[in-house]
Amino acid sequence: MSDLKKPQALPAGPERELQIYALGLSGGKPCVPVPLHLLEQKAKEILAPRACDYVAGGAGGEDTMRANREAFYRWRIVPRMLRDVSKRDLSVEILGARLPAPVILGPVGVQEIIHADADLAGARAAASLGLPFVLSTMSSRSIEDVAQSAEKIAESPRWFQLYWGKNPELTASMVERAERAGYSALVVTLDTHSLGWRERDLHHGYLPFMLGQGLANYFSDPVFRGLLAQPPEQNPAAAIQLWGSVFSNTALTWKDIAFLRQHTRVPIVLKGILHSNDAALALDAGVDGIIVSNHGGRQVDGAIGALDALPGVVREVNGRVPVLFDSGIRHGADVFKALALGARAVLLGRLYLWGLAVAGEQGVRDVLLNLVADLDLTIALSGYTCCRELDSSALCKTDSAESMRQPRL
Ligand SMILES: Cc1cc2nc3c(=O)[nH]c(=O)nc-3n(C[C@H](O)[C@H](O)[C@H](O)COP(=O)(O)O)c2cc1C
Repeated sequence: MSDLKKPQALPAGPERELQIYALGLSGGKPCVPVPLHLLEQKAKEILAPRACDYVAGGAGGEDTMRANREAFYRWRIVPRMLRDVSKRDLSVEILGARLPAPVILGPVGVQEIIHADADLAGARAAASLGLPFVLSTMSSRSIEDVAQSAEKIAESPRWFQLYWGKNPELTASMVERAERAGYSALVVTLDTHSLGWRERDLHHGYLPFMLGQGLANYFSDPVFRGLLAQPPEQNPAAAIQLWGSVFSNTALTWKDIAFLRQHTRVPIVLKGILHSNDAALALDAGVDGIIVSNHGGRQVDGAIGALDALPGVVREVNGRVPVLFDSGIRHGADVFKALALGARAVLLGRLYLWGLAVAGEQGVRDVLLNLVADLDLTIALSGYTCCRELDSSALCKTDSAESMRQPRL
């Protein structure tokens, strides 16, 4: 065990169960439904149809979105008995911080279409539990506003996610702003140099950025503002047009990682790695972490389910940097399986967004508490006491996911 600051204790599974049952005795309920299909259903009732589709949808026929869930169904846990699991510790160490549980709020853009508090809600909920929050480049509140708001709750890790656009000065400016505002890692998303073919959004003719939503980090950036004849407040249409011309950069190669290294001292984590050869190239480029992810099936339809890609990447990395995972995490068992296949921690996307839609900051907090409690119980009931004990011997692989319930996202 390192000498890193001890993380705050989160309620263990049985404690959280008792809280909820005690609430039930007095006729109360948690602020979000515990069964995920009810949570999702409630969120969908609240959200405008096009915002709902923006969150729920994926690329093309959404095969990869389904593949993400099916990959989990193929792996089953094989519980062990009589192993004294009375003392448990879910904490993990990542990039110089000790987290109370292996759970991170992943980067999600344009959260103002989900809840008026947007990114502030998730950042504050994460801070209150000591879990990291990753702020998207496409956030609805600026790098600095989110930092200030989260700091008021507690000191806890926050990372900045970069969409690496065409203008190097703008990229450098955002990266430097994030470091100045206390973001302690840079998550570089590689899988979205262009937006995937998202049929639901195309059907609605809806891209929130074209309405000026999710552009807070651009509109507040001195380099971006310097490229405009009039400030975005006076001429939003021109600012949106400029964003459209700088967002996408399809020319980047592995050599370009050196540029980021020159502009920040914080650890660099690459998000969107699926191929083991890319994991090897990432290590050659000297990065500090890898996130196995297919962006929740929002980019390449037909791509491999993210969990199916995890073992190959973990094998290639061989413990040299932490490997994190996202795409399809919904329950404690999913986190267990990802950890057993070699991930150090998981990132959440849609799961926490449903909590955000239903009950803002408290909704995100409840979703997190429920997931951690579910994970704690899954670990204990399977005969383990901490995350690092988990490996593939805790799982068996079945041939088919067909016997499982209908995949649901
Ligand atoms: C509405 C929405 C917006 C997203 N925005 C971003 C983003 O700005 N940057 C990013 O790296 N990933 C983004 N993602 C991808 C998530 O970080 C994550 O990879 C994905 O949601 C995981 O899949 P899951 O939600 O099915 O678990 C977004 C995902 C959703 C659903």
